[in-house]
Amino acid sequence: MATTPRREEIGAFMTLEQFILDRQEQFPHSTGSFSRLIRDLSVAAKIVNWNMRRAGIVDVFGATGEVNVQGEVQQKMDLMAHTEFVRALRRGGECCLIGSEEHSEAIPMRTDADIATDGKYIVLMDPLDGSSNIEVNVSVGTIFSIYRLPDHVREATLAEALQPGVDQVGAGYVVYGSSTMLVYSTGFGVNGFTLDPSIGEFLLTHPNIRTPVDGKVYSINEGHYNSFEPGLKKYIKWMQREDAATSRPYTTRYIGSFVSDFHRNLLKGGLYIYPATESAAEGKLRLMYEANPMAYIVEQAGGAASDGRGRILEKIPRALHQRTPLYIGSARMVERAEAFLRGDLDLEP
Ligand code: AHG
Ligand code: MN
Ligand code: MN
Repeated sequence: MATTPRREEIGAFMTLEQFILDRQEQFPHSTGSFSRLIRDLSVAAKIVNWNMRRAGIVDVFGATGEVNVQGEVQQKMDLMAHTEFVRALRRGGECCLIGSEEHSEAIPMRTDADIATDGKYIVLMDPLDGSSNIEVNVSVGTIFSIYRLPDHVREATLAEALQPGVDQVGAGYVVYGSSTMLVYSTGFGVNGFTLDPSIGEFLLTHPNIRTPVDGKVYSINEGHYNSFEPGLKKYIKWMQREDAATSRPYTTRYIGSFVSDFHRNLLKGGLYIYPATESAAEGKLRLMYEANPMAYIVEQAGGAASDGRGRILEKIPRALHQRTPLYIGSARMVERAEAFLRGDLDLEP
């Protein structure tokens, strides 16, 4: 029989609200604006979570065979998540511009009809990551990246959103898995909160997350193997070789839902790769709202993120939806990947 957690068990964890307030008190000059932005994002995450938990039921009711349910449900969920995050940020008033995977242009929050809005933050996001996994009940996520509008700028435009990843003031993700977690960083380590559905609160269950420096798991869509560059092919072969001293062969784990693959590797150690391929020279993932925020988080947790040649966070962005190859996870695994790509490491004979 399922047991309801006792009050004192819930009480052992700090709520996200409390955590935000405690942090804010450490900065006496803080206006609370950033704290409110995080709160707005967490509220949207709860709403999206709620809708997601009902997805199967809605799906069953909608699946009468008249339309391509698969495509439509996916689109609906992507759009639902996008709409809820935009709505929460607009209502909260701390955000001046949103960039979203689900919208081709940057979305300004200040409109003529809404001149009271004076938000200072730019939020770039992937509202629903891994959405093709929803219909088979696999974990999906939300990713967000936060920049500050430079003080001298009054009107936020796309130009202000195109800041390099090192200039992020915060980043996070939500994973809607067997439980729902919000993980975020504001440059002082990484903290993870699990949603307790019985009280509707995110609770601090994973304080100060540190990722292992090395790992034995790699996550890549190996179906594209033939179109990988030679250095990457060698690195994969190296990971597959038997060698007791280095605990090889390694293990492959690929969910196909970046947030979920990243989250597992962050906690357990490992490397996620979405490389350049012959048909996609820049890979698949997006720099501004997939690679940069996760690179910020992984570095804050002691890991690393590279495009195979250099640090993700230092890439100078050109466009909101630009793509980048991505090697992200345990620092030693990323370093080794770069060494293989450069040709500094080779397979033992
Ligand atoms: P999204 O659902 O936001 O478009 O992202 C899908 C991404 C990512 O979540 C995943 O890791 C990757 O696509 C999987 O791509 P492949 O199917 O090419 O492996
Ligand atoms: Mn995505
Ligand atoms: Mn998406």
